[in-house]
Amino acid sequence: MIESFYKLVKPMLFRLDAETAHRLVLGMLSAWPIADPPASPTNLNTRVLGLDFRNPVGLAAGMDKDAIAPAAWQSLGFGFVELGTVTRRPQPGNLRPRVWRLLEHRALINRMGFPGKGVETVARRIEEFRGKEPKLRIGINIGPNKDTPADKVADDYAALAGRLGTLADFVVINLSSPNTPGLRAFQSPERLREIRAALDAARVPNVRYLIKLSPDIADAELGPICESIVDLGFEGIVATNTTIAREELGISTSYEGGLSGAPLRDRSRATIRTIRRHVGTRVPIIGVGGIASAADAYGHIRAGASLVELYTSLIYEGPGLVKSINAGLSALLTRDGFRSISEAVGADV
Ligand SMILES: Cc1cc2nc3c(=O)[nH]c(=O)nc-3n(C[C@H](O)[C@H](O)[C@H](O)COP(=O)(O)O)c2cc1C
Repeated sequence: MIESFYKLVKPMLFRLDAETAHRLVLGMLSAWPIADPPASPTNLNTRVLGLDFRNPVGLAAGMDKDAIAPAAWQSLGFGFVELGTVTRRPQPGNLRPRVWRLLEHRALINRMGFPGKGVETVARRIEEFRGKEPKLRIGINIGPNKDTPADKVADDYAALAGRLGTLADFVVINLSSPNTPGLRAFQSPERLREIRAALDAARVPNVRYLIKLSPDIADAELGPICESIVDLGFEGIVATNTTIAREELGISTSYEGGLSGAPLRDRSRATIRTIRRHVGTRVPIIGVGGIASAADAYGHIRAGASLVELYTSLIYEGPGLVKSINAGLSALLTRDGFRSISEAVGADV
């Protein structure tokens, strides 16, 4: 039903500014009642990070920064969501407009800059949702406030983890948004050590920390970063965030920010493959970037992703995409003789 409704309203939404359309849709989805998720094919049930997932398809960070519509994501068939990025204090983000559609490229460019209500509001919403016994896994993505000085960024992560860690199945340390000045510089062994020390000092019980990386890291730097992620005891890697490169777009554009959607797919997949070569099976990868079909999701999985996420394709294809990716993924596994997702992870590496 929601699928046909989206088809009906999409032309109207696409006449609005991208962020206005997004807010409208989220507003509608916020009223969604909690309900059982659609059934997932059994060969999609998977165990990652020591947790059972109904299926490996998740919602990427940024779509629901303030945890407005978690029940809707469950009903659409996602196996998990990554809420956030959540910051310690509320902040407005960059000036609007700050999201643009590139229709022919099935892409978006955004320079949102983590607008959000801040940790307290989001924590209360997630607590309320947890009380409804959700049947999808909940990841929470955290990031520093724009005005946090570089030497206090680790403290922001620790404070955020302290408040949100026990509410999340896993916490994603976002080091890769291109829209918070200086953030990507934290993708280095020294800075990772600093963040780890601050997180350890926060002593959050039973928490799994993952690091979200950019697709714009030079291959020579990616190796040492991966090694320190594993050595420091982080539990996984989310790859990738948006790119500041424009090569794959093939046109010049004056829009500033991170590019997502179809033109990002191969760059993300190459990054996933390189990370997999470095980390092997020591930590799982959540693959994200340009997934718009079951074949795309399968390609990321074969490149080394144990779970996948999407954002931009949901805008273009609509909410029916989640179920169709899951159905297609199940069929692709069967076609290739894999009994489960985990058997296909990294098959191409
Ligand atoms: C409008 C927009 C806002 C985003 N906000 C965040 C964010 O707050 N935190 C984050 O880690 N990633 C954010 N992302 C990146 C996505 O989580 C994802 O890594 C990226 O878009 C690639 O996936 P996709 O091609 O399926 O969209 C955002 C992406 C878009 C398009």
